Amino acid sequence: MKKVRKAIFPVGGLGTRFLPATKALPKEMLPIVDKPLIQYAVEEAAAAGIEEFIFVTGRNKTAIEDHFDHSFELESTLQAKGKTHELNDLKSIMFKPGSVTYTRQQQPLGLGHAVWCARHFIHDEPFAVLLADDFIYSKTPCLKQMVDAYERVQDNILAIMEVPDAHVSRYGIVAPEHEATTNLFKVKGVIEKPSLAEAPSNQAVVGRYILDSRIFDFLEKQEKGVGGEVQLTDAFTPLLEEQDFYGFRYEGERLDCGSKAGYIKANLRVALDREDLVDEVSEFIKDVHKISTQQAS
Ligand code: G1P
Repeated sequence: MKKVRKAIFPVGGLGTRFLPATKALPKEMLPIVDKPLIQYAVEEAAAAGIEEFIFVTGRNKTAIEDHFDHSFELESTLQAKGKTHELNDLKSIMFKPGSVTYTRQQQPLGLGHAVWCARHFIHDEPFAVLLADDFIYSKTPCLKQMVDAYERVQDNILAIMEVPDAHVSRYGIVAPEHEATTNLFKVKGVIEKPSLAEAPSNQAVVGRYILDSRIFDFLEKQEKGVGGEVQLTDAFTPLLEEQDFYGFRYEGERLDCGSKAGYIKANLRVALDREDLVDEVSEFIKDVHKISTQQAS
């Protein structure tokens, strides 16, 4: 029985959509309320039983490494002030020594290239990939749901959501073997960012994957796809000839934190679920709504 113990976090992207905020700050460090995006992804992976965390970083990303390390000055100040709650929060995000690795993607050549950069840390075992931009709000963490499904099928699994026609060209789109009526369904093909005419369905890949290490043999070829980038999705096509792929409809709400609107929605979503914020924030939303409808009329 194969077990998913390792996860890759591609965090080398430039975050140009959030400039100037991301000029000196990695986009993965943007907070949803009071926790950086990358921490949500890491906590999701830990809750799914991941034991080794591999970050594929780039220039200007050292804040991520610092975030997951001790800050002795801060810790001793909190200790001295008796702020034990905050101190425990900080300590809870610490990795077990030796379970975290950082490697660099020296050039932004695409997601497939970023994942390939981590190949030496995976060896011959299945692994997860989490894109922190895809914030998934759910009762059971999305990757945990996928790992549970993996225990049953022991094959490649892609998180899937249905998207409207107008959005198919933004995603990797899968071709289900049969009509996708169950939450776990076999996939016979996948196309990265197809036009509506080319799209085999409306079932889009979301940034959570469980993959077999054989994928590296295909990523190795570094063939460029859409946008002149090495696409992770493109390596699925040759692998599909040897192995099965499943689409997995997770339970939860995906908010695209690579977009400004999605990022704002994610902040509201989390705030409205927080006891310390719900009253003030919902009151504010009502007021803003009232003002905007008055202005419109
Ligand atoms: C990436 C993948 C794409 C997937 C998407 C999910 O695209 O290449 O297949 O559907 O993430 O967010 P990107 O958003 O990086 O262009």
